[in-house]
Amino acid sequence: MTSLWLADRAEQPWTASQLDQGPRSADVIVVGAGITGLMTAVLLTRAGKDVLVLEARTVGAGATGNTTAKISLLQGSHLSKVLPRHGKDLARAYVDGNREGQDWVINHCRSHGIAVQREDAYTYAQSAKGVPSARAELKACQAVGLPAVWDDDADVPFPYHGGVRLPEQAQFDPMPFLDSLAKELLDRGGRLVEHTRVRRVSARGKGVRVHVNDAAQRDVELDAGQLVLATGIPILDRGGYFARVKPSRSYCLAFKVPGNITRPMMISTDSPTRSVRYAPVADGERLIVGGAGHTVGRKKSPSKSLEELASWARQHYPGAEQTHFWSAQDYTPIDQLPYVGPILPNSETIFVATGFNKWGMTNGPAAALALSSRILGGRMDWARAFASWSPHELTGLFTAMQFNAEVGFDLAKGWITPVTRTGRRHPVDGEGGVVSGPPWHLEARCRVDGAEHRVSPVCPHLGGIVNWNDADKAWECPLHGSRFAPDGTLLEGPATRDLTASY
Ligand SMILES: Cc1cc2nc3c(=O)[nH]c(=O)nc-3n(C[C@H](O)[C@H](O)[C@H](O)COP(=O)(O)OP(=O)(O)OC[C@H]3O[C@@H](n4cnc5c(N)ncnc54)[C@H](O)[C@@H]3O)c2cc1C
Ligand code: FES
Repeated sequence: MTSLWLADRAEQPWTASQLDQGPRSADVIVVGAGITGLMTAVLLTRAGKDVLVLEARTVGAGATGNTTAKISLLQGSHLSKVLPRHGKDLARAYVDGNREGQDWVINHCRSHGIAVQREDAYTYAQSAKGVPSARAELKACQAVGLPAVWDDDADVPFPYHGGVRLPEQAQFDPMPFLDSLAKELLDRGGRLVEHTRVRRVSARGKGVRVHVNDAAQRDVELDAGQLVLATGIPILDRGGYFARVKPSRSYCLAFKVPGNITRPMMISTDSPTRSVRYAPVADGERLIVGGAGHTVGRKKSPSKSLEELASWARQHYPGAEQTHFWSAQDYTPIDQLPYVGPILPNSETIFVATGFNKWGMTNGPAAALALSSRILGGRMDWARAFASWSPHELTGLFTAMQFNAEVGFDLAKGWITPVTRTGRRHPVDGEGGVVSGPPWHLEARCRVDGAEHRVSPVCPHLGGIVNWNDADKAWECPLHGSRFAPDGTLLEGPATRDLTASY
């Protein structure tokens, strides 16, 4: 399960970097080497800051290397959700920030010889039911000055009942872009260390002490004046971001297709979501189809939705041959606007960037511009639409209460349901995973490629009980989206520890 972007990666100049090759301090430590972290780091080094980037896995291993990589200001039906909640002024500021992020990425690609395809983007209705929301998106785009138009027809081989088109948006392969940022970071004297996970952060004078496990699993302490958590969901609980965003996981499939592939970037406004684009590759082009989204840890069998998505692609692109499939998760903010700024009000030491709602190819760069200018003592005009603490969040209060009620329900369900499974330990028939046993001795058991694993299902973040994802072959916490490999190794999420061994 490797994305089209991460498949066949060559060794990079930073692959062998180790923590002990440099000083144990920096002006700014950036955690996370996705689009947000690397771009923030580069902008800070350009201004003369000494920057160290720490990455738990490898560059792009999070959402950025597993995205669909449309760089678009038309973002599904997002703007028609932002506008009624926040009004024209904030909606415009949100678009301005995304436009500046989009321009930055495209200009950087142009000046570094990185391929970008300029294509129109569509938010379309795949049935009559979807027309009103596509129309609402058109109205929202026009209200904030985006030159969107309505097209009754489009040159696509799947059901299309009309849609909004925004001309001249963009798409790319995100990895050459990340590699170019990483290279510039190193050229300017910054540092990037992979396989190094931040476990905890404590205060140290006016700055922070960052506690990490390095590639050899040694505990190491590093000091910094400021810290940027560009980790998808923030890995520290202060600020309660885990209760202010909803983690959503979706899937992408790449196909070799005989004949022509759809040129514009398409995303449906009605369910089930269909996201489509093409991608140039060494031997021609691939069709990428995305969808099958679900709240992390809450879908009984994600593999069924994935199969449904694959058969939709084969139906409308006859002869399509699947070459890759992958998945990733991103975070929907309760009030629809991203959280970018200090982790707590009035703090200028630790910063976060989250809540991009699956539109981080422009929101991530906007966040990097906003954070770096703030750290350097400036301000972006549009940054008010990206505030981490702001009165506009009250508009999301009801959604927050609803989401956190669901979290409470899932917490109780996770502890009680396994008891109802027959026997003290439920067997795993064939491949798969299950949680069973009485609440005082729960066990998560799975079998993958013939190997059996037994771990405690209790999520080390806040005690949720993990569920098995049969498409990703991973344990997922339904509370705030932490994920673990079959043997309990932490993959991502607000948790910073592995699942413990079963006892
Ligand atoms: C399926 C899917 C399709 C998408 N398609 C699009 C699209 O077409 N267009 C668009 O604009 N957006 C899209 N998005 C959203 C976009 O990909 C993300 O918003 C964006 O990549 C987020 O970038 P990031 O740098 O903030 O986070 P990430 O890329 O997730 O980077 C975070 C990094 O932090 C690291 N990390 C986490 N915890 C620690 C720790 N404790 N210590 C050290 N490192 C840590 C992770 O390993 C990871 O590499 C999509 C998202 C998904 C899930
Ligand atoms: S992610 Fe919060 S309890 Fe598991």
